[in-house]
Amino acid sequence: MGLLIGVPKETAAGEKRVATVPDVVEKLVKLGFSVAVESGAGDAANFADDTYRAAGAAVVPTAAEIWGRSDIVFKVRPPSADEVALLREGGTLIGFVWPAQNPELMQQLAARKATVLAIDCLPRQLSRAQKMDALTSMAGISGYRAVIEAANAFGRFFNGQVTAAGKIPPAKVFIAGAGVAGLAAIGTAANLGAIVRANDTRAEVADQVVSLGGEFVKVDFEEEGSGGGGYAKVMSEGFQQAQREMYAKQAREADIIITTALIPGKPAPRLITAEMVKSMKPGSVIVDMAAEQGGNCELTVPGEAVVRHGVTIVGFTDLVSRLAKQSSTLYSNNLLRLTEELCKTKDGVIDVNMDDDAIRGLTVIKDGSVTWPAPPLKLPAPPPKPAAAPVAAPKGHGHGGGEPMSAKGLATVFGLGALAFLGVGLYAPASFLSHFTVFVLACFIGYMVVWNVTPSLHTPLMSVTNAISSIIAIGALIQIAPPLAGGVADRPNALILGLAVFALALTAVNMFGGFAVTRRMLAMFRK
Ligand code: NAI
Repeated sequence: MGLLIGVPKETAAGEKRVATVPDVVEKLVKLGFSVAVESGAGDAANFADDTYRAAGAAVVPTAAEIWGRSDIVFKVRPPSADEVALLREGGTLIGFVWPAQNPELMQQLAARKATVLAIDCLPRQLSRAQKMDALTSMAGISGYRAVIEAANAFGRFFNGQVTAAGKIPPAKVFIAGAGVAGLAAIGTAANLGAIVRANDTRAEVADQVVSLGGEFVKVDFEEEGSGGGGYAKVMSEGFQQAQREMYAKQAREADIIITTALIPGKPAPRLITAEMVKSMKPGSVIVDMAAEQGGNCELTVPGEAVVRHGVTIVGFTDLVSRLAKQSSTLYSNNLLRLTEELCKTKDGVIDVNMDDDAIRGLTVIKDGSVTWPAPPLKLPAPPPKPAAAPVAAPKGHGHGGGEPMSAKGLATVFGLGALAFLGVGLYAPASFLSHFTVFVLACFIGYMVVWNVTPSLHTPLMSVTNAISSIIAIGALIQIAPPLAGGVADRPNALILGLAVFALALTAVNMFGGFAVTRRMLAMFRK
C-alpha cells in the first residue's frame, strides 16, 4: 500500500476551501496513494463526506488523527502552531507557507523534521511549472470575484442599454495593476459590457490588456517597471507623481475601480488617495484586492466593505474563499499535478528530487533543514533588446512591408506611365478611351484603398470589395441588356433575359451577403 495523504479541515477563520476535492481523491488513489479526509473538511465548499467516501477516501472524525497518521498532509493555508504540533515527525506538508512572512512557522516545521513544499514558492517562470501554479489559479478567481463584488455594490448595469425607459450608458471600470488577477478582472468586466481601462507599471502587459477587451492607459513618464521574474518594482518619485495625476483623472471618470497592484516583499503601493475617492461620483465602487498587504487605497479597511464620501470601498480579503467550490477544485488540481511530478513511478511513493528545478524551488524544508530560499534559476538569457526602435514604415506601405520607392524611381514610373497614356490617347478609338480611363482610375482607387487598410481588417475589406464587385456586375448587365423600356425590337431574347435575371439574383445575394458579413465583422471590433 502506498503512502497516506491526509486532508484536514482548514482552521483559519472564514476559510472555506479544502485542499483536495473528491475527483482528485480518485486520481490520487490511481497513483497508488491512500487518502484520508477529516470529516466536514469539504462542507463549506459543498463537498460532502459521502462524496469523498465514494471517491475512495477514508473519512476520519478528528484533525489529530489526520495529522498524526498521514505521511503527507495537503493544506491550503499555512498551518497554525497547534497544527504543526500534531504533524508526524518526519512527515511531509504541502500547501501555502509564505516562508518570508512566517519565519516562526518555518522554525516549528523544521523542528518536526518535516519536509515542506510551499506551493507559493513555485518557480512560476518555468513553463513546466504552470500546471502547478496555484498562485495564478487563485489570482484568476479573485480577479473574477472582485468584479462580481463590484457589480453587487454598484447600483447600475455594467453594459449600456437602450430601453423604452431610457438610455443607460455602460459602466466605466478602471483596473490598477494588470497581473494575473487584474487581467481576469479586465476580462470579466469587459464580458459584462463595461468600458474597461487598465494601467500597470510593466508596459509589456499593454497587449494583454487590449486582447482581453480593455484599453491600456499609460503614465506620462518613461521608466521601466519590471523588477525581474515578471514582477513589479518600486517606482521613482517622479513616476509616482505622474501616475498619481493620471489616476486622479481616471478616478473622476470611473464608476468602478479595482486595484490589484502588488510588489513582492513590499507593502502594496498606495495608488488611490482619499482626495481621489472624494472626487468619484456618489455610488461608485472601489474593490481593493491588495487590502491584505496594506491596500492600494488609503481608505480601505481590510476585510470589510465601508462607505466613504459616498463611495463603497470593498476590502474583502477572502475573495477566493467566496468561490470555494471553484477555488478548491483548481487548487487541488494544482496539488495533483505536483503529486504526479513527485511520484513519476505511480506507486504511491514520493521522491523530492532536489535536482529538479521546479521541485527544488518549492522545497522550503527538507528532512528538517531549511532549504529556503532556493538558488536563483538559471534561465536562458532574454534576447538582447534592439539598439533603437525600428523606424515605422511610412503609411501606405503597410501591406508589402518592403523598402519605400525612392523619389527618382517614382518619377521614372510616373514618366513611363504618362508616355504610355499619350500613346493610347493618340491611337485608340474614342469609345475605348473613356472605358480605359474609368478602368485606370478604378485600379488607382482600389490600390489606395486596399494598401492603406491594416491587415487585421482585410477580411471585412474583402466582403466590402465583394459588394463593390456586385455593383460592377450589375453595371455590366445593364451594358449587355438594352433598356427594358425600349421597343419590342430592342428587347433582348429570352435566354439573355433569363441569364440576366439569374445573374442579378446571384449578384444580389453576393451584395447583401457582403454587407451582412462586413457588419458582423465590424461589430466584433466595436464596443
Ligand atoms: P502581483 O500580484 O505581484 O502584482 C499584480 C500587478 O500589479 C503586477 O502586474 C504588477 O506589475 C502591478 N503593479 C505593481 N506596482 C504597481 C503600481 N505602482 N502601479 C500599477 N501597477 C502595479 O503579480 P502577479 O499577478 O502574481 O504576476 C505578475 C506577472 O508575473 C504576471 O502578469 C505574469 O506575467 C508573470 N507571471 C509569469 C509567469 C511565468 O513566467 N510563467 C507565471 C505567473 C506570473
